[in-house]
Amino acid sequence: MRILTGIQPSGTPHIGNYFGAMRQIINIQEKGETFVFLADYHSLTTSPEPAQLRANVLELALNFLACGVNTEKSTVLFRQSDVPEVCELTWILNNVTPVGLLERAHSYKDKIAKGFSPNNGLFSYPVLMASDILLYQSNLVPVGKDQKQHLEITRDIAIKFNNQYGEVFTIPDELIPEEVAIVPGTDGQKMSKSYHNTIPIFGKEKEIKKAIMNVVTDCKQLEEPKDPDTCNVVALYKLVATPEELEEMKAKYRAGGYGYGHAKLALFDKLWAYFEPMRKRRAELEQNLDYVWEVLRKGAERARAEATVTMAKVREAVGLR
Ligand code: ADP
Ligand code: TRP
Repeated sequence: MRILTGIQPSGTPHIGNYFGAMRQIINIQEKGETFVFLADYHSLTTSPEPAQLRANVLELALNFLACGVNTEKSTVLFRQSDVPEVCELTWILNNVTPVGLLERAHSYKDKIAKGFSPNNGLFSYPVLMASDILLYQSNLVPVGKDQKQHLEITRDIAIKFNNQYGEVFTIPDELIPEEVAIVPGTDGQKMSKSYHNTIPIFGKEKEIKKAIMNVVTDCKQLEEPKDPDTCNVVALYKLVATPEELEEMKAKYRAGGYGYGHAKLALFDKLWAYFEPMRKRRAELEQNLDYVWEVLRKGAERARAEATVTMAKVREAVGLR
C-alpha cells in the first residue's frame, strides 16, 4: 500500500498542521511505504519571495524529521520539485480536466476572495495535486478536512483518464481524522498561516505564550460559570491533554471561579511539554543540515524511480511514445 501526502512549505508550520496532518502521517507511516513531500511547486501559486521559499523548504524538512517522520525505516521524504515529472503529468491531466470542475473548487474561490490574483497556477492547483497523488500510484492520502474536495477532484480526473486511455492510475482514498477535524486559530477561525492566527510548533517560549494569551474567548468574569464546549482554549487543550485532564478543565469551567487566564496558562504548560522531545530533536538536526539534505536527496531518488514507471505508462497510453 502506498500512503502519500504533501505539505506546502509556505511558512512556519503551526500546531494545526501538526494535529491536522503531520501526526497522522507519523502514526500511519509503519503501515506501508509512505511518501511525504514538501510541495514547493504548489507554494509558487501565491508568489513567495525566492529566498523565503528556499528557507521554508528546509524549515519544513526539519520539522517533519523532528516531529518523528522515520526516513530510516518507512518514509520517503522529498521535495516536490526534485521530481519534475509531476509537471509533465499535470499538463497531460489538464487535458482530461473539465474547467467547471476547477471552477467549483472552494480553495480557489477562497483565495480569490482573500485578494490573491487569479493566476492560472492557482486555478489549476488541484490538477497539480492530482498529479502528485497519481504519479506515485497512491492508495491512501492523509489530509485535513479542507482537502477533501481536492481528493474528490483527483478521483474524478483519474477515473476520466482511465476511462479514456485504459487503467493506468490507482484510484486513491483520503484519510481524514474525525477527532481532530479543524484546529481553531487564536481568533477562533481555522488556524492557517494565511490568517495570521497560528501557534507555531517550534516558536520561542515567549512567542507561544503570547499567542495563547491572545486566544479569543467571550467576556465572562472570573467567578461566572463558563461553557467549555464553545471555548477555543478548551478546543486547543483537548489536543494536548489526557481525557481526564480535559474533563477536569471542563468541570472547572462549569463550576465558575476559574478564569480564561488560568485555562490559557494550563494550555501553555501542556503544549510546551507536549513538544519538548521534538524541540530537542530539532535542535540536534539544526546542527547537522548535511544529514537533512542527504535525506531529501535520497528521498527524491526513490520517488523518481516510481515516477519514471508511471510516466512511461502515461506517455504510452496517450500516444506520446
Ligand atoms: P495553512 O492553512 O496554514 O496554509 P496548509 O494549507 O499548508 O496550512 O495545510 C497543510 C496541512 O495541514 C493540510 O493537510 C491541512 O489540511 C492541514 N491543516 C492546516 N491547517 C489546519 C487546521 N487548522 N486544522 C487541521 N488541519 C489543518
Ligand atoms: N494542497 C495540500 C494542502 O494545502 C498540499 C498538497 C499538495 C497535498 N499536493 C498534495 C496533500 C498531495 C496531499 C497530497 O494541504
